[in-house]
Amino acid sequence: MKEFQEKVAVVTGAASGIGLALATRCAQEGMKVVLADIEEQALLQASQELHNIGASVLAVQTDVSQAKDVEALAEQAFDTYGAVHLLFNNAGVGGGSMLWESTLADWEWVLGVNLWGVIHGIRTFVPRMLEQHSEGHVINTASMAGLTSGPGGIYNVTKHAVVALSETLYHELALAGATIKVSVLCPGFVKTRILDAARNRPASLQNAPVDKTIPPEREAFVQMMRQAIDAGMPPPQVAEIVFTAIREERFYILPHPKWKAAIQTRMEDILQERNPSNVFVRRQ
Ligand code: NAI
Repeated sequence: MKEFQEKVAVVTGAASGIGLALATRCAQEGMKVVLADIEEQALLQASQELHNIGASVLAVQTDVSQAKDVEALAEQAFDTYGAVHLLFNNAGVGGGSMLWESTLADWEWVLGVNLWGVIHGIRTFVPRMLEQHSEGHVINTASMAGLTSGPGGIYNVTKHAVVALSETLYHELALAGATIKVSVLCPGFVKTRILDAARNRPASLQNAPVDKTIPPEREAFVQMMRQAIDAGMPPPQVAEIVFTAIREERFYILPHPKWKAAIQTRMEDILQERNPSNVFVRRQ
């Protein structure tokens, strides 16, 4: 897609971080913007901000892990604007512990938002976007965690799945001769509130409180992540890179080129049947 003026964008996780930057960029391109987020107050604030810069905005409180919410989001988007051209499946949550210590609620929460959220976006929007027979683009937010290997719990599992889902969608849209393109966004560290994702964890998926001291090495890992995210790329810069990629119809969007060495190492590990290198150890 090269022309954005008066077209319609839907952004999930639009109230904060990368999603807010993408939505703002859509508005600056002259698009009508549908903002979807679970966090009501932040969503209203984001909506007001975009309204103030002159955008036509529809804000829909949505839990992307719930099929009925995403269907309601699509209904409102198509009822209001009649079409959808850009779909950003961006909402995501991080956190969690070692895989074997993760509770069923941890799995349901993180898979629900990061993977089912994207699945619902595809199931619900892509058939209608295909029926439009016009240009369109789907951008799924994965992560470098979806292309590399290291500790990171359920989050890594979901991000690898989003890369696989996006690659499959790419091939299937090509096979169908569709006018809709797809990209997968795989950033390294971005300065957002991702490490405070538990603020939006539903009451029904909370863990029972446990009295557990966090081992120092795990605390050090969390601290390292926090510092890296605090020093991360500003979200508007990510949005700029994403729009260039949409214009160029580029599938892989890698805003942090330095991470390519880690992807290469993983690929070489596989091809040479070496054991997995830890991306974080290599980067320190
Ligand atoms: P953020 O926490 O600033 O924004 C995430 C947004 O998603 C929030 O507005 C939150 O309310 C919303 N959200 C959470 N659960 C939701 C649900 N069930 N339904 C709808 N909305 C929900 O974090 P950030 O970093 O902007 O995250 C956006 C995406 O970028 C995520 O998919 C994340 O995994 C990905 N990412 C972030 C990186 C970073 O370093 N910040 C690096 C790589 C990928």
